[in-house]
Amino acid sequence: MWEGTMRRQVLLFMWILSLGPVRGQISYSIPEEMAKGSLVGNVAQDLGLDVKRLRSGRARIYTGDSVEYVELNRDRGVLLIKERIDREALCRRTTPCALHFQIILENPMEFYSITVEITDINDNTPSFEKSDMKFKISESAVTGAKFLLERAVDPDIGINGLQSYVLTRNDHFGLNLKDQPDGGKIVEMVLQKPLDREKQEDISLLLTAMDGGEPRLSGTAQIYITVLDVNDNAPVFTKPVYKASISENAPKGTIISTVSASDADKGSNSKITYSISNTAADVRDLFEIDELNGNLMLKTRLDYENERKYEIHIQASDEGGLTDSCKISVEVLDINDNKPVINMMSKTNVISEDSNLGTVVTMVNVQDLDSGENGNVQCTITEHLPFTLKSTSSNFYSLVTDSDLDRERASEYNISITCCDEGVPSLSSSVTLTLHISDVNDNAPVFERSSYEAYIVENNTPGLSIFTVKATDADWNQNARVSYILEDSSVNGVPVSSYVSVSADSGVIHAVRSFDYEHIKDFHLCVKAQDGGSPPLSSNVTVKIMIQDQNDNAPQVLYPVQTSSSVVAEMVPRSADVGYLVTKVVAVDVDSGQNAWLSYKLQKATDRALFEVGLQNGEIRTIRQVTDKDAVKQRLTVVVEDNGQPSRSATVNVNVAVADSFPEVLSEFTDFTHDKEYNDNLTFYLVLALAVVSFLFITCLVVIISVKIYRWRQSRVLYHSSLPVIPYYPPRYSDTLGTGTLQHVYNYEVCRTTDSRKSDCKFGRAGSQNVLIMEPSCTGTMQRIQNEKNILDEPDSPVEVS
Ligand SMILES: *[C@@H]1O[C@H](CO)[C@@H](O)[C@H](O)[C@H]1NC(C)=O
Ligand SMILES: *[C@@H]1O[C@H](CO)[C@@H](O)[C@H](O)[C@H]1NC(C)=O
Repeated sequence: MWEGTMRRQVLLFMWILSLGPVRGQISYSIPEEMAKGSLVGNVAQDLGLDVKRLRSGRARIYTGDSVEYVELNRDRGVLLIKERIDREALCRRTTPCALHFQIILENPMEFYSITVEITDINDNTPSFEKSDMKFKISESAVTGAKFLLERAVDPDIGINGLQSYVLTRNDHFGLNLKDQPDGGKIVEMVLQKPLDREKQEDISLLLTAMDGGEPRLSGTAQIYITVLDVNDNAPVFTKPVYKASISENAPKGTIISTVSASDADKGSNSKITYSISNTAADVRDLFEIDELNGNLMLKTRLDYENERKYEIHIQASDEGGLTDSCKISVEVLDINDNKPVINMMSKTNVISEDSNLGTVVTMVNVQDLDSGENGNVQCTITEHLPFTLKSTSSNFYSLVTDSDLDRERASEYNISITCCDEGVPSLSSSVTLTLHISDVNDNAPVFERSSYEAYIVENNTPGLSIFTVKATDADWNQNARVSYILEDSSVNGVPVSSYVSVSADSGVIHAVRSFDYEHIKDFHLCVKAQDGGSPPLSSNVTVKIMIQDQNDNAPQVLYPVQTSSSVVAEMVPRSADVGYLVTKVVAVDVDSGQNAWLSYKLQKATDRALFEVGLQNGEIRTIRQVTDKDAVKQRLTVVVEDNGQPSRSATVNVNVAVADSFPEVLSEFTDFTHDKEYNDNLTFYLVLALAVVSFLFITCLVVIISVKIYRWRQSRVLYHSSLPVIPYYPPRYSDTLGTGTLQHVYNYEVCRTTDSRKSDCKFGRAGSQNVLIMEPSCTGTMQRIQNEKNILDEPDSPVEVS
C-alpha cells in the first residue's frame, strides 16, 4: 500500500502540472480484483475540491454506456470499488489497462477526467485446453523427430503470464520452445534417444506450464506415448543345436523333438513359422515340421540300416521376413526289426543212401541287417535227424550227414534250419529243405514166409495154379522189381520144371501135369526171387507141394479069390461054437487115409442068422450054434467099402460048407462041377497074390534106397553149386515122367498071418521113413490099425511128416 500511495501522488502531481486550464484530470492505479468498497482514491483532496462542493455540485461519475466499476462517495470525497474488476476480462492482453470516466459537477458545471489504471495480479494459472495428449510413435522414429505439443494458456500478462514449460524427466524426449512473433511460444517434444518398444511400450510424461507470478502458478497436461512396433527383432531359437533320438520304425507322426524360437516384436512381427531348410530331398521326405508349434515329426518310418544319423536345419521366420536357424541332430536307434535271411548256397536236394558220414548236403549263408546283438545269429536244425549243422566261417554253415542214411527207413527228410538273432525279442526265420534219399540196391527181396506148403488134389488139370509165392523188396522202383525164378532141381530124377512152372512176374506156381497121389505124394521146389538192381540181389524159398488123395481107386479083394471055375468053400464043423471064425475077407485100397479105410458088410446070405462079418476086420464068424438042420452049402456076399467121398466098393462071394467031414462036403458040392475048377483057380490066385506082395515089397525097397541115394547126392550138389544168376527165368515144360517117392502120411501097422483061419497077427512097425513095408511072409490078410489119434484129429487130412 505504501508503494501504491506513493505512486499515486507522483502521478497526480504530474497530471496537475500538465492540465493547466482543464479543470482537473487525475489518474489512479489500482490492482485488479479489489474487494467492493475498497478505496480507489480521494478525489476531493486530489482535485482540491471541498466536500461541500461535491455535495452541492451533485458530483457524479459518468461512464457513458460502460459498466460502472467505481462509485463516488460524495460524503467522503473518495472513489470506491463498486464492481469487482477483472483485468483479463476488461482488457484481455491490452496494456496498460485503464478505466476512463468523468466526474461531473453542476453549479457550475465542471468535469474532471479520471483515469484508473488496473494493474495485473497473478490470479490465473496456466492451463491446457486438454488435460491429456496422446501420441503414437513408431519405435523406428529417428532422433530429432519433433512432436508439437499443445500450448498452455495464461490470461495474465507480463510476468504473470506463461513463462516456461517443463517436461517430466525421461530418457527419450526433451522440450524445444520456439518464440513466435506474437510473443507466444511453440512447444515441441523432441526425440533425443531412439525408442524401443521391446523395452518400453508405453511412456507417460507430464508437461508443466509455469507463469512468472509471485507465487508462481502452474498447470499440467499428461502426455501418453504409445511406442509402435517395428519388426526390428529376428526370431531367436532357444538352442542353436537340439539333440534327439528316435528308434527306427517309430510310427509316422511321432514327434521327435520340438524347437522353439521367440521374437521380441509384437503382433504379426512376432508371428513365427518354422520350416526345414535342408536342401537334401531325403530329409524333407522323412521329416516334417509343424509350421506353428515347431514339432518335428516323422513323415515315414526310418530305417537304421539305411541311415543312422540325420541333421535337420530348421528355420524360424517372422512375418517381417527376419529369420533364425538351428540344427536338430537326430540319432536313429537300432531296433531288432530284421529277421535273419537264410540263403541256401547249393540246391542239391537228393543224396544217395550210401553217402559217407560228413557228406555236405548244402551250404547255408545267414545275414541279419541289424547291428550289434540284434545282428548276431545262431542257427540250429531239426533235432533227431541224421544231419548236423557245422559253422564253417562267420555266417556260413554247412549241413552235413552225421549218421548213416537208409532210404528204406526214411526216404526223405524235411530239414528245418532255424536262425535266431540275439535281439530282445529275438527274431528268427527258418527254411525247410526237403532232402530226398536216393535208392541203392541194398535190400534183397524177402519172401513173406521162410517156407511154404501147398496142396493140390490129385487128378488136377495141367496148368492149374497151385499157389502163389510173394516176395517184397524194400528198395525202390527197379531195385524193388521182383522176378520169380524156379530153381533147377529134380524130383525122382526128373527136373522139377516138368512138374511145375513159376510165373516170373506174379510168383504163381502152376502145375504142369496132372498129379497122381498114388504115384507121388509130395515134392519140394525152390523159388528164387530176384530184384532188378545192378547188381541184382536175390533170396530163395522152399515150397513143399503136397498132393492130396482122391478116392479114385475101389477096394480090391485079395481073399477069398474070386474065380469062375473053381469053388472054394470054407468049412464050418457042425460042432463049431458061437463066434467060430469061418474066414476073413481081405481087401486093399491103394488110396490112402479115409479113402483106404475099408469096412465090411454082409450083403446077402443063405441064412442071415448064422453068420456075421466084422465091420472093421472082415472076419466072418458064426453067431449061433450050428444045428443039423442048417444046410451044408451056405453062400455069403460081402461088400467091401472104402470111406471116401463118394465111397467105392467091391463085393466078394464066400462059400461056406457046414459039415463034419469032407465027404459030406464033397457030396454036397458034387453039383458044383465048376467049383472044382474054382478051387484050382483059388490056389493060383493065392500064389499070385503072394508073388505080387513080394514083388511090391522088393520094389519098395529098391525105390527107397534109390531115392535116399538121389537125395543125398542132390543135396551135396546144391550145397556146392553157386549157380550164375539169371534175371528172368522162362518157365520150362517137360513131359518126362518121374517116379514117385513113397512118402507116407500114415503110420501103418501091417499084420501078418500064417493062417487065414486064425487071427494071430505079427505086427511090423513102419520104418522111420514111413514106408509101407509088406513082408513076404505075410500071406496077404492085412489089417490096418489106424493110429487112433490121427483119425480123431485129422480124419481127412494127411499127417505131416516130422
Ligand atoms: C515234408 O514236407 C512235405 C510238405 O510239407 C510233406 O508232404 C512230407 O510228408 C514231409 N515229409 C516228412 C518226412 O515229414
Ligand atoms: C537159397 O538160400 C540159401 C541161403 O538163404 C543158400 O544157402 C542156398 O544156396 C540158396 N539156394 C539156391 C538154390 O539158391
